[in-house]
Amino acid sequence: MAKQEEFKELSEDGGFAMVLCPSTIISTIFIEARISKDWSDICESSQLQEALQARLSSPDNSSVVEVGDDIMANPDASITLGQLFETYKDIIQSLKVVEYVGIETASACYTLNTMTVRLQAYQLYDTAREEDSTIPQAETSLLPHVRFDGQWDEYVDIQSTHTTSHIELTLARLVFESDLKGELIWMMTNILRFSQKSGADSRDVNPLILLYGPPGTGKTTLCQGLAQKISIRLNSTYKQTKLIQIKTANLLSKYYSESAKQVDNIFTTIARMCQDDPKRFICVMIDEVESIAFSREHSTYNGEAQDSLRATNSLLTGLDRAKGLANVIFLCTSNMVSSLDTAFLDRCGLRIAVNPPSSASQYAILCGRIQKLIDRGHITSDRSLPLYDEADIEYRADGDGPGAKIGAQILAILGLINSGDAQLIGGISGRSLTQLPELAILRYLRGEDCDIDLALAFIKRFVLSQEVNG
Ligand SMILES: Nc1ncnc2c1ncn2[C@@H]1O[C@H](COP(=O)(O)OP(=O)(O)OP(=O)(O)O)[C@@H](O)[C@H]1O
Ligand SMILES: [Mg+2]
Repeated sequence: MAKQEEFKELSEDGGFAMVLCPSTIISTIFIEARISKDWSDICESSQLQEALQARLSSPDNSSVVEVGDDIMANPDASITLGQLFETYKDIIQSLKVVEYVGIETASACYTLNTMTVRLQAYQLYDTAREEDSTIPQAETSLLPHVRFDGQWDEYVDIQSTHTTSHIELTLARLVFESDLKGELIWMMTNILRFSQKSGADSRDVNPLILLYGPPGTGKTTLCQGLAQKISIRLNSTYKQTKLIQIKTANLLSKYYSESAKQVDNIFTTIARMCQDDPKRFICVMIDEVESIAFSREHSTYNGEAQDSLRATNSLLTGLDRAKGLANVIFLCTSNMVSSLDTAFLDRCGLRIAVNPPSSASQYAILCGRIQKLIDRGHITSDRSLPLYDEADIEYRADGDGPGAKIGAQILAILGLINSGDAQLIGGISGRSLTQLPELAILRYLRGEDCDIDLALAFIKRFVLSQEVNG
């Protein structure tokens, strides 16, 4: 069979357009095409997806791509896309290479016709936040939504001019040392694929993922980003994805004494939604789940505790009922994992620890925010922010004395924050690092201009002042 023909043999499998390919091709590259929202012809949109898929996986397409690339922004986009480029250049807003799965290669550059290409085309919703009248205790959004765009993999380019080759470091907005994001996408995809294949009764694992860890480590952001990514990746299987974010804080306060009934109602409505339309995927997010999954062992029998105890019971029975639904997943977060009810923990299909950032991640997060302020014109800089390894060498060689280079100064700041007392700025969390540059400039700037050296001096001063005031 000609390769071109084989690529046309698409079969649905867990939402992916599976492309049959010769056994020698085992690596896969995932590409997401963002289509302009003004282009509303759904039928044509799926034709466009097929046309792009065929072009990118064509045997004569020897274009080379890297993860993080936006093919549309590449100078040779017209070669990669051939005739499609002219026709669709105003419609395809981006064509991002988002993941590579396969044998490890020496280089991070991949030639398209040596691997399987999986393409997903999507359009972003931009509807206002809905208070769904059927679930008043939640906020619902259709996904993928413009509000969560870039939450997962908005890249900030950090160029290093310290080398002749002009290295580019792309930083994801959410930075983790391990490939936590990639793993989460796969785990969630697999849960859904198993759900679909098992049928309602025979499923053993609850479609429930718990992300737990200290405050400010990115759990809520991860859940929203994950829901958004899954809605794109599985859009051949599920024509619509709805994110339902339960307002847990309200449940116990606003609906005091009837929170168990409210939890019951939520699960009944969700079950109905899932059954009404099996092609609709429902992603339920329960942020700070401890408010309704508080350990019953630790509850006392006063009125409030009774209410929360009943709410926990309703949650557990609701989750058991949801086990029979193939098109729902529950994403929960908690920073009080030790207070969670053991029966709830037992029902979690996956429990994932989200840890505070490592040194390299701290550097990436801080640099990412500084770079953002540079991009927005709040900080001026004629120098680029160096890669972590380069900064580390600078720091080890010269420390952060007068005239120290930028990377060394940033590492010195991180050293200060990590040294004992500086935990007072809220500890080393993604959240505190994200806010640090802006807070420091807001506090100390007394003029209009702020160059990079001044900004770094402000940040250092801010960290020291927090230690002293602490
Ligand atoms: N690893 C990270 N990389 C980049 N940014 C991060 C990281 N962790 C947290 N942040 C940033 O910190 C902010 C707060 O994150 P988020 O609210 O998701 O944390 P959380 O773990 O849910 O906190 P909490 O437990 O207090 O609810 C977000 O703006 C997020 O972008
Ligand atoms: Mg949170």
